[in-house]
Amino acid sequence: MLRSKDLLGIKELRKEEILLLLNTARAFKEVLQRDIKKVPTLRGRTVVNLFFEPSTRTRTSFELAAKRLSTDVINFSAPTSSLVKGESLLDTALTVQALGADIVVIRHGSAGVPHMLARVLRASVINAGDGTNEHPTQALLDAFTILQHKKAIEGLKVAIVGDVLHSRVAKSNIYCLGKLGAQVRLIGPATLVLKAFEALGTEVFYSMEEGLRGVDVVMTLRLQLERQGRGYFPSTEEYFQKWGLTRERLSLASPEVLVMHPGPMNRGIEIASEVADGPESVILEQVTNGLAVRMAVMYHLEEMKKA
Ligand code: CP
Repeated sequence: MLRSKDLLGIKELRKEEILLLLNTARAFKEVLQRDIKKVPTLRGRTVVNLFFEPSTRTRTSFELAAKRLSTDVINFSAPTSSLVKGESLLDTALTVQALGADIVVIRHGSAGVPHMLARVLRASVINAGDGTNEHPTQALLDAFTILQHKKAIEGLKVAIVGDVLHSRVAKSNIYCLGKLGAQVRLIGPATLVLKAFEALGTEVFYSMEEGLRGVDVVMTLRLQLERQGRGYFPSTEEYFQKWGLTRERLSLASPEVLVMHPGPMNRGIEIASEVADGPESVILEQVTNGLAVRMAVMYHLEEMKKA
C-alpha cells in the first residue's frame, strides 16, 4: 500500500512502494496486451490533466491510462481557461476539485507546485513534471523498461548523459535507480553535471569515453534549451561532438547495453539517429510502458484513499 494520497516525487517513496508500483504495472501490461484493453477498476472516478507546459508522451499517456481504467478524463487547457482572466492556479485547482476530480495530474514549470496543490486538495495529486525538480512517473516507467530486459536493477551500471542540471527526469531516476541498487554514473560538461551531484550517491564523469565503459544502460537527456541561459556550452554542434551518443561511443558500453531517452529527442544534438533507431534502443518501449505504469499509479492512489 502507498503511504500518501499523492505521487509528488520518487524522493518521497520507499523501495517497497516503488516495487509495488512496478509489480502492478506488470499486471496492467498484460491487460493492455489483450483484445479488450479496458478494465472497470476506477469506473466513476474523474481524472483531470492540468498541463502548464508542453507535453506529448506524458499527457496522452495519462489520458489513455485513465481511460483504460474506465475513469472520466478532463484535459484542461491553460490558454483557454479563466487563468488568462487572472484566476489563480489554486482557485483553478479548487474549481476542478469542486467539479468532482478524484485525481489531478499536473505539469508546471515551477518546482513545488504539485506539492502546494497536494496540501490543499482532497484529490490525489500526481506530479507530471515540476520545473527542474522531479518527474516521478518517467523514472518508474524507465525502471519498468529496464526490468523488462534485465533480471534486476541491483548492481547494474547506469549512465545518465547530458543536461542533468535542468533535468527532472535525471533527478527522479537518480533517486529511483539508487533506491533499487543501481550504480548511477552522470556524464556531461561540468556546467551541466555538477560535482555536487555525487552527494546523491552518483559518480560524476567529464569524459564520455571513461563514463560509458562497461555500462549496462545509457540514458541520454534532452538539452533543455528553454531552461538554460547562455554559456553552458559553445554550440549544439560542439555539444554533439563532445557529448553526443554516437555508435562509436556506444561500443564502449556492455554488449547488451540498453539505450534510453525520455523524449522528446533532439537527434544530432544529444543522440545520433543511428543510435536512437538502433537495435539497442528501447525508446519507444519506454513510451508504451508509460501506460501500464501510470495505470498502476492511479490504481494505488485510489486504493490508498479507500483504506
Ligand atoms: N518524457 C516526457 O515527459 O515527454 P513529454 O514532454 O512529451 O511529456
